[in-house]
Amino acid sequence: MSGRELSTTEVAAQRAMTPGADNRAHFNHAGSSLPPESVVDAQHRHIDLEASIGGYEAAAQMADEEEAVYQSIATLIGAKPTEIARAEHATIAWFAGFWALPMEAGQRILTVEAEYAANAVSFIRAKERYGVSIEVLPSTPAGQVDLDALDATIGPDVAVMAMTHVPTNGGLINPAAEVGRITKAAGVPYLLDACQSVGQLDINVDEIGCDMLSVTGRKYLRGPRGSGFLYASEDILPRLNTDHPDHHSAHWVEAERYELLPNARRFEYWEFNHAAWLGLGAAVDHALSIGMDRIETTVQARAAELRARLDEIGFEVRDLGENKSGIVTSSHPKMAAGELKAALTERKINSSVTDPDSTLWDALRRDLPHLLRTSVHYTTTPEEIDQLIAALTDITT
Ligand SMILES: Cc1ncc(COP(=O)(O)O)c(C=O)c1O
Repeated sequence: MSGRELSTTEVAAQRAMTPGADNRAHFNHAGSSLPPESVVDAQHRHIDLEASIGGYEAAAQMADEEEAVYQSIATLIGAKPTEIARAEHATIAWFAGFWALPMEAGQRILTVEAEYAANAVSFIRAKERYGVSIEVLPSTPAGQVDLDALDATIGPDVAVMAMTHVPTNGGLINPAAEVGRITKAAGVPYLLDACQSVGQLDINVDEIGCDMLSVTGRKYLRGPRGSGFLYASEDILPRLNTDHPDHHSAHWVEAERYELLPNARRFEYWEFNHAAWLGLGAAVDHALSIGMDRIETTVQARAAELRARLDEIGFEVRDLGENKSGIVTSSHPKMAAGELKAALTERKINSSVTDPDSTLWDALRRDLPHLLRTSVHYTTTPEEIDQLIAALTDITT
């Protein structure tokens, strides 16, 4: 859903609520964004409370607030609170869902060319463990998953369709809802890696039709490092068996019998970082207070502007997709991405470098080098883009 772009005044107000906004020009939101002060405060308050009255006692005092985080996340993605599980980060959330899926020899895993490295390694591990095969779907000329190819190949022998929504190294937004319609019709479980999309796109799990979705806190949600969550729909839960249940995810009911929790919390463990969870809740509430539709429009406007400006100064923009995200990747004909990033760091401009092996199938197909990743958010200003472009011009001439 597209909303109204944030005005200059609104962006300035958001930056005033962001302690780090003016220290650096931050173009690394896809790595770890700058948190708003409400996120920092929620964590500080809880750490102080733990130090002053004890960790268990602090958790008891904050039980209602901790519970409210599930509701905030559910509101953000259009789910039920019982469909949300805490996780330390996206990969752990994804693992929890993936390894709970039943798989057997002869079944296929369907996935996409721009799949994230951690997920691809798991497919290869599942091949070793269960004897499943991996089928990487082709991409359209625009670079997104080919829906006709998916439709043609999907069948009852598919253990899971696993797709990265917004890849780590490029503008691509895969057509998640169109994929969901095909997996639903075929009755195939659908696991969406939404690590880079939740927080920058307006996401509704019912519209997408995914069964599971994994998210990290520190990127576009602007939450703490070491926070994240898994969404698992109540329809898929009975088909999942957690790989490592503990005495929180299951009740130990008899000497040799346990019962898994009936909801997504079967994927959690007893111990967790309470301050980070509360910080994540504050981050989600912050995003909701602005409106995900407005965030999505603003991020995409800034990214389009940056792509055009990079092109003007002789960079090759490597982004794919019919609609593009806030992640902008590019290369320069004469300078390596690592050198560019180092020179930007000297000028107090944050960026990152993506390694071809973070999306190896895509990198091999497109013969990608290391890329400079300059990711924007709704807090990015046109002045910061001017600063980045001036710096890159200076560095490369
Ligand atoms: C698309 C995608 N999926 C998953 C991850 C892993 O996230 P985390 O480091 O929070 O486990 C990343 C991290 O960059 C990512 O870009």
